[in-house]
Amino acid sequence: MKNENMKNLLGLRNLKKDYIEEIFKITSYYKKKIENKICVEKILDGKSVINLFFESSTRTQTSFELSEKMLGMNVVNFSKGSSSMNKGESLLDTLKTIESMKFDFLVVRHQVPGVPYLIEKYSSSKIINAGDGTNEHPTQGLLDIYTLKEEFGELKNLNVCIMGNISHSRVAKSNIFGLKQFDANISVCGPIPFIPRDIEGLGVNVMLDTNEAVKKSDALILLRVQMEREAGTMLSSLSEYNRHYGITMDRIKSNPEIKILHPGPMNINVEIDYETSVMQNSMVLRQVTNGLAVKCALFKIMNESKVK
Ligand code: CP
Repeated sequence: MKNENMKNLLGLRNLKKDYIEEIFKITSYYKKKIENKICVEKILDGKSVINLFFESSTRTQTSFELSEKMLGMNVVNFSKGSSSMNKGESLLDTLKTIESMKFDFLVVRHQVPGVPYLIEKYSSSKIINAGDGTNEHPTQGLLDIYTLKEEFGELKNLNVCIMGNISHSRVAKSNIFGLKQFDANISVCGPIPFIPRDIEGLGVNVMLDTNEAVKKSDALILLRVQMEREAGTMLSSLSEYNRHYGITMDRIKSNPEIKILHPGPMNINVEIDYETSVMQNSMVLRQVTNGLAVKCALFKIMNESKVK
């Protein structure tokens, strides 16, 4: 797919390597500007965007809003709590109402997988999926892969292990789809109930031992144990999870160069301890900066799309 053909970003499942690389090229341009606190050109001046967050967010929503304002857009933030959904208006009627205002861009996060695809069916806006339930989180996948590329240069044969609740993770899926495009060696690690049975079909190795995962990986992408997505019923306790799968200073002694990523928010002393989360190997805050740059790049590309 050529950039000019990209109307929506709903997932990384079908995004090809050359297309992702094009996004990354433009991301690097914005990253430099952001790091040096240089104003970016308001190339989307006069365009309109609505951020529809039906689920809580700090990083994604804030970085979307900031990127939209940096590029000059008229930004509307929809909050379910203060909307007429509180008076019983349905999701569909809410979406139709918003569609009638003819926004140029629509950013959506929803707890139900597939909602961005539902919107795509009748919306004329350009749509970005900011996370749909357990399905995908494509902008997180892009910023994670960009961070790995920035750190390691080459992703081919890079050993990346995604650790945690793979079954319920939209971050894991987007990372797997994206990293496969770059021929990274991807593995997953976590308690058996957290590992989808058919995961090897995606070309991913399964590791059940955390110490082995640490020793054999160049980078770990840690996932949040998501109590709101049934993890609570599948784990005997958080402290037991921490004992077997938590990444600690002690655990990474076997591979002191290993890089640690986490999409946030982190559960400190569950999937990671505090010292590890703030050490030099931790890419967590760099991921946030890169997320802002990725979003600027996406809006630029999607604005240039010729697809109606
Ligand atoms: N990574 C991520 O999606 O974080 P938020 O929920 O804070 O947006």
